[in-house]
Amino acid sequence: MLPDLDELEASLLNVSGNVKLDVRFRALFTLKGLAALSQDKCERVIEIIAKGFTDDSALLKHEMAYVLGQLKDTHALYHLENVLNDPQQHSMVRHEAAEAMGAISSPKALPILNKYVRDDPDVAIRETCHLAIHKIELDNSEAGRAERELQAQRDKEHGDAIAAAARAAAPIDPAPAIVHVPREGDASSVYTLENVPHFRQVLLDSSLSLFERYRAMFALRNTVQQGGEDAQEPAVKALVDGLSDKSALFRHEICFVFGELCHPACIPAMSRVLRDGSEHEMVRHEAAEALGAVLEEGGQDTEASEVMDTLRQYAHDESAPRVVRESCVVALDEIAYNNDPTQFQRIE
Ligand SMILES: [Fe+2]
Ligand SMILES: [Fe+2]
Repeated sequence: MLPDLDELEASLLNVSGNVKLDVRFRALFTLKGLAALSQDKCERVIEIIAKGFTDDSALLKHEMAYVLGQLKDTHALYHLENVLNDPQQHSMVRHEAAEAMGAISSPKALPILNKYVRDDPDVAIRETCHLAIHKIELDNSEAGRAERELQAQRDKEHGDAIAAAARAAAPIDPAPAIVHVPREGDASSVYTLENVPHFRQVLLDSSLSLFERYRAMFALRNTVQQGGEDAQEPAVKALVDGLSDKSALFRHEICFVFGELCHPACIPAMSRVLRDGSEHEMVRHEAAEALGAVLEEGGQDTEASEVMDTLRQYAHDESAPRVVRESCVVALDEIAYNNDPTQFQRIE
C-alpha cells in the first residue's frame, strides 16, 4: 500500500508539533518518490512542499528546495522564485532555490537568475546563479544536446545497462560532468584513472569559470564511481585538494560530493572541516552529512566510532551554527534508524 499523502504532509509540516527532524526528512524523500508516479501526484507534492517554506529550520527548507529542483517540473518555479526573492530566507535556502532552478533547466528562470547573479550581496548566491545560468544555457543548446547524445552512446558501448539505468535515476548535478578530454579517442568512458590529472588540473585552475571547475568536480565524482578501484583514491585525493579553494560554495559542493560517494578516504578531510569553527556553516553542514553518509554505508571500526563521537560533539555544541548542529542530529538519527531492523525500507 502506498503511503498516504495527507499523512506525509502532516509529518513534513510538523502539524502535531512533535515530529522529529529526521522523520520530517524521511517524509520529504518519500514525497519525492511518490511524485514520480504521476503528473497529478507531482503537482500535489510540489504544493505540499511549498507550504513548508515558512518553517524555522533552514536545514529542512534547503532540502525542500533541493527536492523541488530534483522533481524537474516547472510548476515548482513559482515557489522557488519566491524563496530566492525573499531576503528573510537563510542564504543556504536561497542558494538551494537558485540551484533548483538550474536543475529544472527552464529558460523561464533566466531573468531572475540574471538579476541575482549581479545584485545579490551574498557571493554564494551570485555564484549559484552563475552556475544555474550556465547549466540552463548549456542544456538548451546544440552543444548540450550533442554532449548528452555522446554520453548515451558511450553508455551503450559500455554495454552496462545497469550503470546506464542508475545514471538515469541519479540526482541532477548543478553542472554536468566533463564529457570531452584532450585525448579521448573513441573510449567508452572518460572517467578513468588516466584522466584524473586532467580533471584535477581543471578543478584547481582558478582562472577558469566556476562552472567549468564544477564540471571537473563531477567528472572526478564519476571517476570514483565508475573508474575502477585503482582510480578511487587518486580521484578522492584530487577532490580533497579542492577544499583549499577560496570559494565557500565550491568547498561545500566538494563536501556534498563526498556525501554522495560515501568513500571512507574522505573521513579525515570531512572531520577537519566539521571541526573548523572558522569554516562557513554551509561547508561544515555538508561535511557533517558526508560523515553521516559514510557511516550509514560502513562498518563499526575505530574510525567509525571516532566519527560518531565527532557528530555527537557538534550535535550539542551550542557555539556551532544551527544548521551544523541539526545536520549532526539528523545524521545520527538516520544512522540509528538504518540500523533498526524493525523499520521498513523507505521509498526514495
Ligand atoms: Fe548546496
Ligand atoms: Fe546541503
